[in-house]
Amino acid sequence: MALWFRRLLPRKGRGSSRPVNDPDAAPPKQTSPNSSVTELTHHSQHVQDGRKSRRTREEIADLNAKYASRIGMPNSSQYQLMVAGDPYRVLNCPQLMGGKVEARRFCAKYNLDDQVLEDQSDMPLDDVFKELRKAREAMLRSIIGRVGQGPVIEPPFHFSYGCNIVLGDKFYANVNLRIMDSALVVIGNNVLIGPNVTIVTDLHNKDLETRRNVYSSPVVIEDDCWIAANSVILPGVTIGKGSVIGAGSVVARDISPGSVAMGTPARAQGHRPGLY
Ligand SMILES: CC(C)(COP(=O)(O)OP(=O)(O)OC[C@H]1O[C@@H](n2cnc3c(N)ncnc32)[C@H](O)[C@@H]1OP(=O)(O)O)[C@@H](O)C(=O)NCCC(=O)NCCS
Repeated sequence: MALWFRRLLPRKGRGSSRPVNDPDAAPPKQTSPNSSVTELTHHSQHVQDGRKSRRTREEIADLNAKYASRIGMPNSSQYQLMVAGDPYRVLNCPQLMGGKVEARRFCAKYNLDDQVLEDQSDMPLDDVFKELRKAREAMLRSIIGRVGQGPVIEPPFHFSYGCNIVLGDKFYANVNLRIMDSALVVIGNNVLIGPNVTIVTDLHNKDLETRRNVYSSPVVIEDDCWIAANSVILPGVTIGKGSVIGAGSVVARDISPGSVAMGTPARAQGHRPGLY
């Protein structure tokens, strides 16, 4: 096996090194195809344009219950607070600090394009392309909470923990995707993401005295959405099935299914026939 290809392969046992909720249980295996992805919820009936994106505790608890089977979740009280939307502290929580370091190690390796390409043998470039995709898919399955069939995430890719990311089938993300997954980030099937997209889940209080408190709120992107280049998706937002988010948008409120929304803040410009 060529050196460049090995550089990208996950280390043996990777993904099982993190503590999981039941320390005696093996983490759920990720297979391809991922049958569990068909459970991905459609929230469309609840999604209305402009709904304030702050989720209730009950909504967050429901989402956490629905996507409870994911790999790599730390077994710690701060983690539980974090995913429940309560204030939490990374410092003094070894599992959260460790999780962040693991994520950074992973990203450093995943994003190693220059070295990997320097190492390539005489392999035809289309084979290099396919092998790189295969190797990166294997890597994603070692750290991302749940992964559907055929994910492609172009490097560079950055995230906070990985375990709170749920990806449906046929997910494609172009370069420079950043997912700050302190809360769940649930992405449905057939979702396309353009270059330089950021999805954030963390929030601070606006009040100066309590601004250091950090808490999080999940993001849901339903099936068949296209999030165009340079968009930012803010905490607690749901983007309804089939929607298009125009380039450079800041999505601060929910977007109803089948919308073409754009701008800062993103507003639906209309619903297109054929887009749900
Ligand atoms: C959202 C999008 C698909 C809309 O395309 P469209 O329906 O053909 O829209 P139009 O080009 O006809 O523009 C319609 C209006 O919206 C405006 N507009 C288009 N895209 C916009 C955007 N991203 N933000 C703000 N306004 C936008 C246009 O200026 C135009 O306004 P006007 O009528 O006052 O001149 C497209 O503009 C877009 O953002 N494409 C993303 C491209 C990209 O990121 N590619 C990378 C690969 S993911």
